[in-house]
Amino acid sequence: MKKNKVFIACDSSNISKVKEIIAKTQNTKLQIGYKFGLEFLNSKKGRNFVSRLKNKITFGDYKFADIPNTCSSAIKAVRDLKFNYITIHISSGLDALKAAKKVSGSTKLIGVTILTSLDNKSLKEIGYDQNVKKIVLKQAKLAKKANLDAIVCSPIEVNVVRKVFKREIITPGIRFNFKTDDQKRALTPKQAYKNGSDWLVIGRPITRGNIENNLQNLINHLQ
Ligand code: C5P
Repeated sequence: MKKNKVFIACDSSNISKVKEIIAKTQNTKLQIGYKFGLEFLNSKKGRNFVSRLKNKITFGDYKFADIPNTCSSAIKAVRDLKFNYITIHISSGLDALKAAKKVSGSTKLIGVTILTSLDNKSLKEIGYDQNVKKIVLKQAKLAKKANLDAIVCSPIEVNVVRKVFKREIITPGIRFNFKTDDQKRALTPKQAYKNGSDWLVIGRPITRGNIENNLQNLINHLQ
């Protein structure tokens, strides 16, 4: 049977904690990848740690958001880390997405849509007139136009994205219950896969507290 795929968000600036997360999430039931974000990659030893990591599916969650030249230069600057996946904000615009795709090589380029920590009210505050679904649909079309390899969206918008984007869909905003921390658009792992997510991204629900128990809860929840 095909295994469910999960990226564990290694959100810490502490190497020992990240080593612990990796050691305690090895298992045969799920396909696991490791996501390193702004906290770890900007920490003193984070970059070096990633450069020495072997035989893991890796995801550099840089969320690049800049002008085309800076986005493509930054992607070249992290090429040595040989990430399987890296992220760019789709809101960087079509030219930046195309410039990034031109240099990303065998690293899959993921377009990030509206952050899962935002809801319609937060979008209004920023100055967007349209709701989350409409913007995410537009962004998915842009990602397709730029030939991106994957999209990050909330599990709630997978159906919307799937209409126009046939490649990988990766969803953070995963929670087992109503305690969603700072996430505003969250669903359970089961619901996210049911909606058609290819990969889930899960951080705190697994890395906070007893990692082995949390992972076992996830496996049980999916059975
Ligand atoms: O701890 P939690 O499960 O909320 O972690 C989610 C991870 O996914 C974090 O590392 C966060 O940076 C990332 N992420 C997100 N929403 C996005 C894109 C990435 O939560 N739209």
